[in-house]
Amino acid sequence: MSFGKKTAGVLAITLTFGFLTALSASADDGKGKRLPSFTSAPSSALYKQECSSCHFLYQPWLLPERSWQAIMDESGKHFGENLGLDAETDKEIRAYLKANSSDKTAARWAQKITSSSEGMTPKKIMDVPWIKKEHREVGAGVFKRPSIGSPSNCGACHQKGAEGNFEEDFIKIPK
Ligand code: HEC
Ligand code: HEC
Repeated sequence: MSFGKKTAGVLAITLTFGFLTALSASADDGKGKRLPSFTSAPSSALYKQECSSCHFLYQPWLLPERSWQAIMDESGKHFGENLGLDAETDKEIRAYLKANSSDKTAARWAQKITSSSEGMTPKKIMDVPWIKKEHREVGAGVFKRPSIGSPSNCGACHQKGAEGNFEEDFIKIPK
């Protein structure tokens, strides 16, 4: 896909208004520049406080918007826990997740997550087909090691995963 100067200008304006979705179908930034593989979502003290006390801090771009919506709709029975979020907290976290979901993130891994989960609403990141495929060489027995526990424990292996960096150089599988 190639864009003329005018198109690039229109895109820049579109971006300003936050309609990043317009870009998510292409692997470049609309100006022909290759997108980075990952990004760090803006940090949110509220998200960190409410959503990482029990587990790994999942980057919002690890799931599409409709997945976060489904997860938040069920926060009263969140994987067996009642998160007890008040209305204001619920609203703020939803807005944060929505704005930074895979559909809204201009990075290659986010786009792979969006396109591979089309037509599905995964509630676990390992249910995203592309994520699952990337882990095909990790045996089920490995995820069950006491030092790991389950595939949800991304940070056990991905040393910089909470920042969105899942690159090979920062993977260390605990014994
Ligand atoms: C009281 C503890 C608790 C809190 C607080 C909590 N969670 Fe969870 N969450 C769980 C449990 C338990 C699981 C199941 C996976 C596991 O065992 O780690 C889970 C799983 C998840 C998963 C699926 C992980 C995967 O494998 O892909 C997501 C996404 C998630 N939580 C998001 C959130 C969000 C968003 C919030 C804040 C609104 C939140 N969690 C707050 C307990 C919690
Ligand atoms: C048992 C250790 C382990 C756990 C737990 C784990 N991963 Fe991975 N992950 C790996 C390995 C090994 C690879 C493949 C590395 C390779 O071949 O480049 C990988 C690859 C990836 C990739 C692709 C990176 C690339 O270079 O293309 C992403 C993204 C990723 N993991 C995210 C996650 C997320 C999110 C979670 C938690 C829901 C998770 N991983 C849990 C070990 C793990």
